[in-house]
Amino acid sequence: MAEAIFITFVLLISIIGLVYKLLTYQYDKWKKLGLPGPKPHLIYGNIPKMVKLKQHFIFDYDDIYYEYKTKYRAVGIFAFRNPEILLLDPALAHKVMVTDFSKFRDNTASRWITNKKADKVAERIPFFQNGNAWKEKRAENVGGVTLSKLNQAYPIWKSTLLKMTKYIEDNIKNGNAVIETKDLSYRFTSNVMSDFLWGIDAGSFTNSEGGKTMLTMLKDMINQVVYATILYYAFSFVPFIKRFFNIRVFPEKTDKFFSQLTKVAIEMRAKDKNTERADFLSYVLQLKEKKQLSHDDVVGHIMTGMLDGYETTGTVLHHCLFYLAKHPEVQEKLRSEINDNLAEDGFINFDTLLNLPYLEQCLQETIRIITPIPVYSRICTTETVLEFDNKKTVNIKPGMVMTIPIYSYHHDEEFFSEPYTYNPERFGNAEHIELTKRGIFMPYGDGPRICLGMRMGQLGVKASLVQILKEYRVKSCSKTMDEKKPDAVDFAMGLSGEMWLEYEALKTLKNTKATNKMNTSKNGDN
Ligand code: HEM
Repeated sequence: MAEAIFITFVLLISIIGLVYKLLTYQYDKWKKLGLPGPKPHLIYGNIPKMVKLKQHFIFDYDDIYYEYKTKYRAVGIFAFRNPEILLLDPALAHKVMVTDFSKFRDNTASRWITNKKADKVAERIPFFQNGNAWKEKRAENVGGVTLSKLNQAYPIWKSTLLKMTKYIEDNIKNGNAVIETKDLSYRFTSNVMSDFLWGIDAGSFTNSEGGKTMLTMLKDMINQVVYATILYYAFSFVPFIKRFFNIRVFPEKTDKFFSQLTKVAIEMRAKDKNTERADFLSYVLQLKEKKQLSHDDVVGHIMTGMLDGYETTGTVLHHCLFYLAKHPEVQEKLRSEINDNLAEDGFINFDTLLNLPYLEQCLQETIRIITPIPVYSRICTTETVLEFDNKKTVNIKPGMVMTIPIYSYHHDEEFFSEPYTYNPERFGNAEHIELTKRGIFMPYGDGPRICLGMRMGQLGVKASLVQILKEYRVKSCSKTMDEKKPDAVDFAMGLSGEMWLEYEALKTLKNTKATNKMNTSKNGDN
């Protein structure tokens, strides 16, 4: 009996010892390299806030950033079990992302995919790709969203803007001048992108069944991406286990839905041969012919725009509107710039639109405060040496992950005074150019992996702001949330909760419930 107890005891101790070893076997990695850093927790390494899923994991990086940035240029950390080098000096970030990019070509999103065969759509999206596959797919995709292609497709944006205006107008007429603006923004991006990518009207502004299905599918797809990211971290001590679960980056049902939608769009386009349409589908069908792309390749290209552009653009748009509502003096200044540049058709010409200085400043300031993608990563692909502190160099081996806490740079008082105050004037003299060169301001990333759809995202946000501000005064009311630090735990970072803003028509609306209501309401709330 005593012998049995002894053997059980020894076994138990050995198992505990093994588990402990498994959990900590890499924890001396950075020490061995001479890199300083915080002591990792046995289970979650250095990202305790993420474990609670209450705060975005950037705030874990942010804490470390402020604790170490005055002493070191970089620290070694563990995101769960994943070893990462957190770059505290923006100059290092610039080096890794731009000047030494050839040695840091990959990003960690590729590691979220466990089953490439099953995840056949995600697998074809540059954001999830590495190496030559990334280079090839990115080059193919970029051709469909060049400035000249977007200029040709500008009528698609204009026609969607008119649908959006009608939607707002109908709401006001029905006495609902206070509109949930996140919903409005996502209706806009899903509609305009469906039109550009497939040539179909998703019906997002008419509450059609198709429109609702599109929004549900997009939501499901993005939720799954967030889930896959969390699992990437959670399984980091035994990554192979992920293989036993069918963990996908995109759900099977959304892959099927978007693949089928693409088939239908292609059939419709084939029937409509005589109508030349300057959109992404036309571009990608020509590419298909030229490069013998498969149907899955075509779906992958289309979904690149949807995955990377739908939520980011929608997020930036509603946060811009939020800050403009909270800062009426900024809104008035912007409206006067807009009115001064309106063309005869009531829109702003494409080239002018993308170059309006104050509009650009308002957008830059919004994405500085609400940096939709708050952290970037680059994986070392060719062995190199980085100089860290006091000229101390460290050998960087392929596979090592560099983490760039761009949110922290964007909110560091050393670079931006009163960082949580919305102040577009801070970008008044094209300051962003110098800040970007120093690696401090990079809301779209930088270097060869910079956001591929940056211009398209800017077009969507700027065109909508122009359309809304020329027709409506957007106001904060009693239902509007207060200004706060970004606190949403989503694919794109932002302010959590509903975003109610009041839309006051600048031209008089006659005989509507709204005008009666507005006249009687003192605080503007309905
Ligand atoms: C205002 C809206 C947008 C913002 C703020 C934004 C921001 C970003 C950021 C920060 C990155 C990461 C860059 C890096 O790792 O250095 C990124 C990557 C990417 N974005 Fe955007 N994006 C926006 C709209 C779009 C749109 C409309 C598309 C559609 C084509 C798009 C496609 C992509 C792709 C494909 C990547 C991955 C690029 C690569 O790894 O080569 N984005 N975006």
